[in-house]
Amino acid sequence: MAPELEDNIKDEKNPRPLDEDDIALLKTYGTGPYSTPIKKVEKEIKDKAKNVNNLCGIKESDTGLATPTHWDLVSDGKMMKEERPLKVARCTKIINPNSDDAKYVINIKHAAKFVVGLGDRVSPTDIEEGMRVGVDQVKYQIQIPLPPKIDPTVTMMTVEEKPNVTYNDVGGCKDQIEKMREVVELPLLHPEKFVKLGIDPPKGVLCYGPPGTGKTLLARAVANRTDACFIRVIGSELVQKYVGEGARLVRELFQMARTKKACIVFFDEVDAIGGARFDDGAGGDVEVQRTMLEIVNQLDGFDARGNIKVLMATNRPDTLDPALLRPGRLDRKVEFGLPDMESRAQIFKIHARTMNCERDVRFELLARMCPNSTGADIRSVCTEAGMFAIRARRKTVTEQDFLDAVNKVVKGYQKFSATPKYMAYN
Ligand SMILES: Nc1ncnc2c1ncn2[C@@H]1O[C@H](COP(=O)(O)OP(=O)(O)OP(=O)(O)O)[C@@H](O)[C@H]1O
Ligand SMILES: [Mg+2]
Repeated sequence: MAPELEDNIKDEKNPRPLDEDDIALLKTYGTGPYSTPIKKVEKEIKDKAKNVNNLCGIKESDTGLATPTHWDLVSDGKMMKEERPLKVARCTKIINPNSDDAKYVINIKHAAKFVVGLGDRVSPTDIEEGMRVGVDQVKYQIQIPLPPKIDPTVTMMTVEEKPNVTYNDVGGCKDQIEKMREVVELPLLHPEKFVKLGIDPPKGVLCYGPPGTGKTLLARAVANRTDACFIRVIGSELVQKYVGEGARLVRELFQMARTKKACIVFFDEVDAIGGARFDDGAGGDVEVQRTMLEIVNQLDGFDARGNIKVLMATNRPDTLDPALLRPGRLDRKVEFGLPDMESRAQIFKIHARTMNCERDVRFELLARMCPNSTGADIRSVCTEAGMFAIRARRKTVTEQDFLDAVNKVVKGYQKFSATPKYMAYN
């Protein structure tokens, strides 16, 4: 062995050619235990299939279609003409479910009830009791499952385009942002934390505070941030002409929300419907109260609610019905107060960010000059400063413009300011 090895090493440049034994060994590489029998059987199968095809007389072309001589264009055309639109029905009951001879009771509105079977293209697992289905008009067989009926006005409420407001555009409000994110983002991102502790995550948040303190703004930032579906409802949208319509809208709204993986429902200006119950004798407000009670009912979640979070915003929390506010329905109440000095400076900077200002405007000074102002007031100051610059035909806004604007807005609007009045309510 040893001398041979040495030989090999010496002759590395022109190695010894393979002898017969080596070649025989190499040939066995790549052949598994049953490879020869398998090859044989495969060939046999192919031959048998060919034989069968020959006997049947079917000649298939490469496209998988029958040869054109077998086509029957006339009757095909007739069949396509006869194909009629499907009717919408409701599957009310399944007889013998989970068996081969399952039958379905369908109810066609204003027509009749039928017991029918499934069409060829529907699987039994697709159909549930109480579902809307499409049935053909000849044998009334179920052809397609349909999604639940949802009012188009409800579908329109979904915010598809994300608003371009981020948390960076909200000045101050540190605590509020923190509280909001805890309720909205934490359960979506880390559900296991709540499961481990054995508590249910909070269901909803009520934002309240004087007008113009950024409640709607923050909700828009939340919508921008999450990947969840965001549905925005204005309270007054739910007040309808006919009795029961508002409650139905709420029901369909939550029904739609439940179909999503995660969903945030934002009721803005909820005092339009959430007022405390009272009897005025005329009965006009009873309908509004019913709508509110439907919300209460949905919040309780007799049906599993899935991953739905509810945000509400109002500036009259004292008028809301206590039933709506009790813990378990809206667990968190977040107050939006007037911004303090630091927050005001920050809000000034946020609104001046997109403006063409002089470099060294002292925003802290401006913030000090408008005490008791809301975010909306400060935004108005910035706009007015821009107007002063336009009037003077300048391309940049100076500090003097801002000072004039503060005088105009803060002093001039004092008469209209509703903040002190609202502060009393909050
Ligand atoms: N904290 C803030 N940071 C930046 N901008 C703010 C802030 N608060 C308010 N604003 C500005 O004021 C405008 C109005 O605020 P928003 O619509 O959020 O008020 P609101 O609290 O919903 O009032 P309302 O109760 O009347 O609906 C916003 O578009 C924004 O430009
Ligand atoms: Mg608002």
